[in-house]
Amino acid sequence: KIYPKTLFVGQNIIFLPTCQSTNDEALHLLADGTAYEGDVVATSQQTQGRGQRGNQWEALPGQNLTFSLILQPTFLQASEQFWLNMAVSLAVHDSLAPFISTGLRVKWPNDIYVNDRKMGGILIENALQGYHLAHTVVGIGLNINQTQFGYPNATSLLLEAPYQEGYHLPALLTTLCEQLEKRYLQLRNGHRDTLRASYLQHLYRYQEAHLYEADGQRFYGTIISIDPTGRLGLMVDGGIRYFAFKEVSFVMMT
Ligand code: BTN
Repeated sequence: KIYPKTLFVGQNIIFLPTCQSTNDEALHLLADGTAYEGDVVATSQQTQGRGQRGNQWEALPGQNLTFSLILQPTFLQASEQFWLNMAVSLAVHDSLAPFISTGLRVKWPNDIYVNDRKMGGILIENALQGYHLAHTVVGIGLNINQTQFGYPNATSLLLEAPYQEGYHLPALLTTLCEQLEKRYLQLRNGHRDTLRASYLQHLYRYQEAHLYEADGQRFYGTIISIDPTGRLGLMVDGGIRYFAFKEVSFVMMT
């Protein structure tokens, strides 16, 4: 067994050979009162993996990373949830960066892309207590050794950076735990300027014109900022328009 060099993230890794969804398992542990900040639930095979916007998350058994991290970000207000998305997507980015020399990006709000293909996704589920976050389940799905996909815009670490027969999943999980703790502590310690600057530095299509769709309308825009609540700031026809998640989508050309 390998332990990450951390204070709390991943010091307790609960491994389930198979389960419906590690996010659901983590939520159950929280409901039972048997979970602690930093605990990780990981599995080789998810039968009902959940994605954003009510989508399914599919991954071939044994080839990828599917896990959930439990946090208690009580220092964040409900309106500040997006800072967690930033910290987590940067941690995933930084864990993969040593293997991928070009094209690794965070696609707003928190997809992991290599060039125009998706390598991973993040599903964060929060419980509130008053105006603050009480606890959070951070679900991360990363395509690692899978090389065939049923949909065209997916990719994996092995496809982007070939390495023998494949990558060692427990070693990668250890690295992810270390990066997750580093970025989470940055957030907890108030280093928001550092987080925002790194996030923008690695953001997909930052400062590049691209086609977007909102309210059934297509238009060209350029990402120029992210506001403190996480809205995407697009320069459109000489003015800035802000969009929340689900209000705007990238039009992908394939
Ligand atoms: C997305 O891009 O739509 C988010 C995908 C998140 C998938 C992960 S896999 C581990 C965790 N458990 C789930 O059911 N979903 C997340």
